[in-house]
Amino acid sequence: MLRAKPPADWLEKIKANLPAVLVDHAHLERKAATTALCLEKYKDLYPHVEELNAIAIEELQHFQLVLNLLKARNIPFGHAFPSPWISGMMKSIRNGSRHQAIDHLICCSLIEGRSCEKFQILSQALSERDPELAQFYGSLVESEGNHYATYILMARSIDDAETDRRLDFFLNLDAELVQKPNSYPILH
Ligand SMILES: [Fe+2]
Ligand SMILES: [Fe+2]
Repeated sequence: MLRAKPPADWLEKIKANLPAVLVDHAHLERKAATTALCLEKYKDLYPHVEELNAIAIEELQHFQLVLNLLKARNIPFGHAFPSPWISGMMKSIRNGSRHQAIDHLICCSLIEGRSCEKFQILSQALSERDPELAQFYGSLVESEGNHYATYILMARSIDDAETDRRLDFFLNLDAELVQKPNSYPILH
């Protein structure tokens, strides 16, 4: 469904900066947990509050797993780098509760979808050099894929046609932004 691949130099940049990438990954999981809780503010998502709690718990567990990896590898937990791709997507979320909820869900679903795609690439690319990390990324693919699908279904439960329209818009935006190079050692 995604309309563009990550830039050609993305994988090399990641492989050359694995310790920093793991710190960035820890922050991504932390932000994924807080985002799931943040979505609970929308009236249209009150019926999904328990599902969102379950996602938040799962993301918090992922955060802890990455922290465990950092500790085992003597990598200190550090600051997060900004992601021009994520901020570019978030900037296009419209105001107004129903539109905002749909856009927010679609942005979250595409972040989950890109994570799913990139974890899959990393699980293959690192299989010889770092089997432990390759296995770890492989183990997250299904969960992030489920989050992607859950967020899209939640948006559809609010308004199916509007979700299609905005998904088309955000897929184009994603394809444009994902190709832009940045020098940060970040997954997104
Ligand atoms: Fe996660
Ligand atoms: Fe996730």
